[in-house]
Amino acid sequence: MNTSWACCIGIGRPAPMPGEVAHMTVRDPARHEIPALWEIFWGAIHNVNVRDYSTEQVEAWAPTDLDPAVWQRKLEEIRPFVVEVAGQIVGYSDLQSNGLIDHLFVHHQWQGRGVARRLMQEIEQRASRSGLKELESHVSITARPFFEECGFRVVREQNNELRGVILRNYLMRRQL
Ligand SMILES: CC(C)(COP(=O)(O)OP(=O)(O)OC[C@H]1O[C@@H](n2cnc3c(N)ncnc32)[C@H](O)[C@@H]1OP(=O)(O)O)[C@@H](O)C(=O)NCCC(=O)NCCS
Repeated sequence: MNTSWACCIGIGRPAPMPGEVAHMTVRDPARHEIPALWEIFWGAIHNVNVRDYSTEQVEAWAPTDLDPAVWQRKLEEIRPFVVEVAGQIVGYSDLQSNGLIDHLFVHHQWQGRGVARRLMQEIEQRASRSGLKELESHVSITARPFFEECGFRVVREQNNELRGVILRNYLMRRQL
């Protein structure tokens, strides 16, 4: 992944005003928008998760030089949906057929404005349509309070090795 491109996150757009966002649209992204989700993923990990993980850990999690083709393949595989505000994608998530939430990321400049809550609402609606009885995710230290707020409970703490580095997260589940 091109470093200078990944570092341009947020440039060219004014930072949002604080407070809950009134109008959020949920939709599936087009193929050409998948690189924008990398910006959100990379930016959230390097600006938000870095509060709870070391520089070495965030770089293992979201390598600045990740091959864009690898990202494109992974995201097409999990079929994400996005939240958009005034034409800008501000967060994305997914729901797999077995109830796994693989990714849930909010743009680092749009934290605390109800975007994740909107993503979870969409997950709940999709789960209900699919008749799922349980949701599950491997949740970061950073996102654990949000998932707890949404009714998830920790099943176990996990120390996973990623690109040679150990990262702690939590397997969390919620009955529906
Ligand atoms: C965790 C994350 C998704 C929350 O997104 P967000 O859009 O800021 O969350 P919301 O504004 O929708 O918050 C909804 C509620 O969750 C709770 N919450 C969210 N983040 C919280 C935090 N860090 N600590 C405590 N509570 C939190 C609050 O109760 C909030 O309700 P409130 O607005 O009434 O206070 C976001 O911080 C993020 O992208 N983190 C980095 C990426 C990450 O770890 N993703 C998960 C990988 S498993």
